[in-house]
Amino acid sequence: MRILMIGDIVGRPGREAVRKILPDLRRQLELDIVVANGENAAGGLGITPDTAREIFSYGVDVITSGNHIWDKKEIIPLLNDQASVLRPLNYPDSTPGSGYVDVNGVLIVNLIGRVFVGNFDDPFRAMDNFLQQHQDAIIKIIDIHAEATSEKAALGWYLDGRVSVVAGTHTHVATADCRILPKGTGFVSDLGMCGAVNSIIGAEPEDVLNRFLDQIPHRLSFVKTGPVRFNSVMFDVDDFSGTVLLTERVDREFEY
Ligand SMILES: [Fe+2]
Ligand SMILES: [Fe+2]
Repeated sequence: MRILMIGDIVGRPGREAVRKILPDLRRQLELDIVVANGENAAGGLGITPDTAREIFSYGVDVITSGNHIWDKKEIIPLLNDQASVLRPLNYPDSTPGSGYVDVNGVLIVNLIGRVFVGNFDDPFRAMDNFLQQHQDAIIKIIDIHAEATSEKAALGWYLDGRVSVVAGTHTHVATADCRILPKGTGFVSDLGMCGAVNSIIGAEPEDVLNRFLDQIPHRLSFVKTGPVRFNSVMFDVDDFSGTVLLTERVDREFEY
């Protein structure tokens, strides 16, 4: 089973990257399941039903999210009806939406970290409970949406041998550490992003600089022109054991 995981899709340039790159990639690499983080898909903040449908139309099977999932409230009905758009699992049971989905027996799970992100339920214990409830599924794929590489690595090692993949999202910066942990779990600290290259994690550099330089909250705008990047990581998973056999970055760049 070959799985591609795509980093945070940021605004129109990010959606354009997926439109341009993914359909060919899906054929060439013979991908079975494609997971993409869509928390910044609509103008950089949140995701709408239209942008979700657009991303699905390019060949994405499951959209994960993170701290920005609540930015566009119109997504909430879709979170409730459309099981393929996830919010993080470690929210209270009463929170709208679902933290996981079953795709032909493969469980895709979305978690959110706590270090420099927010006061969420413990993602480690949330996974313990989840794994206890889902012992039959052989392949489990985790998107851990978190800021600190240490928290993501700790979760990777904690789940090593218990899930197939632990892939980080949220920083929008692709890391060069994709590997197979000792008990067979595929791991990467951050998938990266699909978005504008000449930006600070997708946003206009000037807006971000102003925040740092004068310390007054500024609204961020998102870069719409210039070269665009597509960041993802491919994982080959053994269907019988659920362990990862190969992991490889799949990154592309083009003029938008
Ligand atoms: Fe993001
Ligand atoms: Fe995020």
